[in-house]
Amino acid sequence: MPVNNKNENQHPPLPILPGSTVGILGGGQLGRMMILDGRKMGYKFVTLDPAEDCPAGQVSDIQIVSEYSSIQAAEQLARRSQVITYEFENVDAKMTQFLQERSYVPQGSELLHTTQHRLREKVAIEKAGVQVAPYFPVGTEQELHDGVDKLGLPCVLKTCTGGYDGKGQWLLKTTQDVAAAWSEIQTSGAVQPAVDSSDSTANDSPTEPGFILEKFVPFERELSVIVARNPSGEIKTFPTAENIHKNHILHLSIVPARVSKEVSERARSLAESIAASLELAGVMGVEMFLMENGELFVNELAPRPHNSGHYTLDACVTSQFEQHIRGICNLPLGSTELLSPVVMVNILGQDVAPVLAQLHTFPDTVKLHLYDKSEARVNRKMGHINVMAKDTDEALHQIAQFGIWDV
Ligand SMILES: Nc1ncnc2c1ncn2[C@@H]1O[C@H](COP(=O)(O)OP(=O)(O)O)[C@@H](O)[C@H]1O
Ligand SMILES: [Mg+2]
Repeated sequence: MPVNNKNENQHPPLPILPGSTVGILGGGQLGRMMILDGRKMGYKFVTLDPAEDCPAGQVSDIQIVSEYSSIQAAEQLARRSQVITYEFENVDAKMTQFLQERSYVPQGSELLHTTQHRLREKVAIEKAGVQVAPYFPVGTEQELHDGVDKLGLPCVLKTCTGGYDGKGQWLLKTTQDVAAAWSEIQTSGAVQPAVDSSDSTANDSPTEPGFILEKFVPFERELSVIVARNPSGEIKTFPTAENIHKNHILHLSIVPARVSKEVSERARSLAESIAASLELAGVMGVEMFLMENGELFVNELAPRPHNSGHYTLDACVTSQFEQHIRGICNLPLGSTELLSPVVMVNILGQDVAPVLAQLHTFPDTVKLHLYDKSEARVNRKMGHINVMAKDTDEALHQIAQFGIWDV
């Protein structure tokens, strides 16, 4: 019989065994890949998502088609699930609370509350003893000017909530950029510095600033580490990935990262410190900047499987998705050993047709993953390939030969 658990701070929960049902809030590709791997181990899945034909809904045992805000839908999800997880972080905190009272949500609402807000996130990272780029909280025009005075230009102004793939960010190089960004914020209406109390993913109190100004750091490389923890306290990291973005969207993950062993190990150990400090359950993506002098700044956290960990599906003993299921179910974590050098390339909407046209030319060590989304919009993440080769230079060379992407 599946076991229903108490909270981890009461006592370490018993494992939730295969045969149990995992509920997932959100029906995107991360949920889909969690399900595909979790089913291999014998778990059952129920997905809650408003879109009927969503990537995770297609492969789950049951899909509850509903808005996330529906109490009836949440009740149904809680009733059917021995454990509940989420695959995106802008889940309403009230909803998580509601689910926590009725089922088992090992990731808890605290982790979401922290990672939903860039300022709270930075404070939590620093509390774990890890460095972030210098920053300044901004709620008013005066504070923006104070921040610019303190940090110096160039800076990046970011909304504290709701940003992704570079959205909700302004690169400020000149004082004109500062004025222009503030006036855009005032007039756009799309991004409001004010607090909307009906949206619990926004700031909790009207005194909490809506923006964060960060020093622009001229990093040498962007790195990330996927770290996993289970409620018993076991922690494991996957090998450090080097990430290349295009138009603020992840384009390539290169593993092993082209950095020294010392940097790579230090990146993993920073991620472990953060996971321990946040009492993580499941996996989390930790994005970092590597500076020329070897310093590492943590940029942001994603308390779920992360795009830069998709390489693990084919190149590691355990995938980040299986590890997430193991983490939330309090099973022992799987080996994170890298079996082959690998480069992951995202397939965006505009890449689907060329990938399908070229598929027959790909070497047999290229693994294709498509998320079965019906509409291939420009820049929408539709899938990815993992290219395994004798080393990452060779994998990058092969990708360049496909002629689909600039590498
Ligand atoms: N302080 C910074 N200095 C330099 N580059 C930055 C800084 N903050 C963000 N960036 C660049 O913008 C990208 C997106 O920023 P990030 O904070 O990760 O937001 P998101 O991924 O949520 O859009 C980063 O991956 C990095 O390339
Ligand atoms: Mg990011």
